[in-house]
Amino acid sequence: MADVSRARFLVTGGAGFIGSHFVHDTLRRYPEARVTVLDKLTYAGNLDNLAELKGDSRFAFVRGDICDREIVRPLVGESDIVVNFAAETHVDRAIGDPGSFVQTDVYGAYILLEAAREAKTSRFLQISTDEVYGEILGDAANEEAPLLPRNPYSASKAGGDRLAYSYHATYGMPVIVTRCSNNYGPRQHPEKLVPLFVTNALDDAPLPVYGTGTNLRDWIHVRDHVSALHAIIETDGLDGHAFNIAGRNEKSVLEITGGILDALGKPRDLVRHVKDRPGHDRRYAIDDSKLRRMTGWKPAHPFESGLRETVLWYRENRDWWEKVKSGVFQDYYRKHYGL
Ligand code: NAD
Ligand code: TYD
Repeated sequence: MADVSRARFLVTGGAGFIGSHFVHDTLRRYPEARVTVLDKLTYAGNLDNLAELKGDSRFAFVRGDICDREIVRPLVGESDIVVNFAAETHVDRAIGDPGSFVQTDVYGAYILLEAAREAKTSRFLQISTDEVYGEILGDAANEEAPLLPRNPYSASKAGGDRLAYSYHATYGMPVIVTRCSNNYGPRQHPEKLVPLFVTNALDDAPLPVYGTGTNLRDWIHVRDHVSALHAIIETDGLDGHAFNIAGRNEKSVLEITGGILDALGKPRDLVRHVKDRPGHDRRYAIDDSKLRRMTGWKPAHPFESGLRETVLWYRENRDWWEKVKSGVFQDYYRKHYGL
């Protein structure tokens, strides 16, 4: 087992949803570790997600872009482990503005990898996604399955994923790539399915289901995603590997919607079927037996209680999401959904 208890982590995108959970969990698990977050604070970055760490001497926040070599180089140079969460992450936004996805998710990964090569960083985790396999209509994809992304988000992530691997194959860099399925949990940006529908339902506003609502995703609690990343970081000998991280919990959009409405005691007539997303992948499904075999990791949060607890978090943290949903989000929402 690798001793990372005193490691210096550089966490990019740490003010976002998954990155902030990773930061909190890292400092909880390894009291002597240090964490620096590098985050551009795009519309998706939120310092409220890191507010509890204010004044913690083990933690530092730097506002900056992973595409900015001058900012990245010294920060990577001072770190033992780089974990790259920073990305443009929303498929719907990628359809309207692919350029920012290519820039951050591909070019940004390149800038970080170059800095890590120069600094001889001892571990580099590239946070990829199960969406790089494209839609899966047959058996769940294992890590050897072809990458067949079908939208500018998943295609850009596939670029970052393979670029990271190329730094292992070409330069022998200690790179690991992870491909997780759909996360849910507290502090997720309300542009994504679960928090959008929970917060709309709390306000008795319509829940815009794309097309038939039969599209399938595998859902995992964000804390299980983070514990899988730590299991990987703590295991020796994984350089050059890719790992799927799954919840083994496949649900359609309508099933998720029903679960949310039931947890809140809200009526089904809030569901509004709207025009389908262009190129909407029908199903994602991944096989994570390699991860379980090589690290012993298992998820700890059953979906039903995890979703209920998540719904309650949004009910009890209205201040958090009302701020995020105000201002520019309203413009995005009106333009995108016309509701
Ligand atoms: P998020 O949108 O909540 O957060 C992204 C963060 O990255 C934000 O804080 C944003 O400010 C920051 N960022 C964006 N561009 C940046 C740049 N150029 N430089 C520095 N910071 C920048 O995203 P998330 O849901 O937490 O996802 C985190 C990572 O996990 C992403 O790489 C995503 O592709 C991957 N992932 C997400 C899921 C999911 O279900 N959400 C599943 C699998 C993989
Ligand atoms: P999303 O949270 O955007 O994640 P991804 O598309 O990256 O998997 O969407 C999850 C599923 O929910 C996907 O099938 C699209 C669907 N969806 C809706 O039906 N309506 C919505 O308003 C959103 C945001 C998503």
